[in-house]
Amino acid sequence: MSLFETWGIGYDVALWPAERLGLRAMRQRLLDGVGGRVLEVGVGTGLNLPLYSADAPVVGIDPAWPMLVRAAQRQRLGQRLVQADVQALPFPDETFDWVVGTLVFCSVPDVVQGLTEVHRVLRPGGRVRLLEHVRGHTRLTRFLTDTLDPLWYGLNGACHLNRDPARLFPEAGLKVVRREAHLGTLVEVIEAVR
Ligand SMILES: C[S@@+](CC[C@H](N)C(=O)[O-])C[C@H]1O[C@@H](n2cnc3c(N)ncnc32)[C@H](O)[C@@H]1O
Repeated sequence: MSLFETWGIGYDVALWPAERLGLRAMRQRLLDGVGGRVLEVGVGTGLNLPLYSADAPVVGIDPAWPMLVRAAQRQRLGQRLVQADVQALPFPDETFDWVVGTLVFCSVPDVVQGLTEVHRVLRPGGRVRLLEHVRGHTRLTRFLTDTLDPLWYGLNGACHLNRDPARLFPEAGLKVVRREAHLGTLVEVIEAVR
């Protein structure tokens, strides 16, 4: 069982220092210009929900019920939460203008399948923007993320430290238009268009 299936408020407590040290500001910047029909995948405890523009009809999905229960406390009018897996989204083709995700694809078992579903539910020309912690791009950070991954994954049962999701976008038919490295290449903003 992964940590997210048992966490809710504990996740927020664990993340609190990172949020204060800049993660919240990165979330805010990530959502700049995001509008129309928005799908947030792996919405977790809903830390992004208060940051969307008030008129964006956001649908947030996550398979972990305790995370969604916490997210419901942050949910605003016009925002909807659905228990679902990004690898099998319960929405018709071409439903959304935007798909957003923060710190999610580190935990999705089949990243290409998840991205393929993202591609399917986006309208042609629709965009996806992710904020992900990733495999390091320098010799040192690559060594660290590869070495620590088995221990980290063994402890939490869900999250990998050394994923490189941007590399897999083309396999899902998504064209990467922006990659922006942060935190010594350990965090990346990835934007793609369908
Ligand atoms: C590190 S948390 C990030 C939560 C939130 N996005 C945030 O930024 O705080 C990872 C989230 O991805 C969710 N997740 C894991 N596997 C998933 C999947 N297959 N489909 C959708 N969400 C998934 C977990 O349940 C968890 O809520």
